Amino acid sequence: MLSKTIQDALNEQIQHEFSSAYAYLAMTAYFEDTNFPGFARWMRMQYDEEITHGMRLFDFVHARGGRAAVNGIDKPRADFESPVDVFQSALEQERRVTRLIYDLYELSQNEKDYGTLVELQWFITEQIEEEKIFEEIIETLNLAGDDHAALLLLDRQLGERKASTADA
Ligand code: FEO
Repeated sequence: MLSKTIQDALNEQIQHEFSSAYAYLAMTAYFEDTNFPGFARWMRMQYDEEITHGMRLFDFVHARGGRAAVNGIDKPRADFESPVDVFQSALEQERRVTRLIYDLYELSQNEKDYGTLVELQWFITEQIEEEKIFEEIIETLNLAGDDHAALLLLDRQLGERKASTADA
């Protein structure tokens, strides 16, 4: 059984995961509008991933005898200067989420909720992976600079992203 403290904290994290999904959806729209179909597809898959993260926690709350909450989501940033600006914004978002997961982990340690600690380990591993991917893409985009041919090549490469099996 979840304590009220942990249940509330998990429900906040569910909200953060769905907020992230919404932010990626806004980035997808930006890339569709600016004619980068590969980046748009990549971001849409990232949106899907965040939905699975939110639902994973939603199911976890119920598996532990709690009640998940469906809270409101703020309007995400929708306007960007360039592809690298989008990915930089995404990286900052992921770093924020990482800190939130660490806070939740610390709270679960204080509450001696070992079940939640185990669940959060999956999220910690996932955050390491996500930050790494965004950092790599930003590095490549910085190398490409304003070179349109390089940008179009990268758009095509990212458009070939395969669905992650780690979320299953
Ligand atoms: Fe669910 Fe990208 O963190």
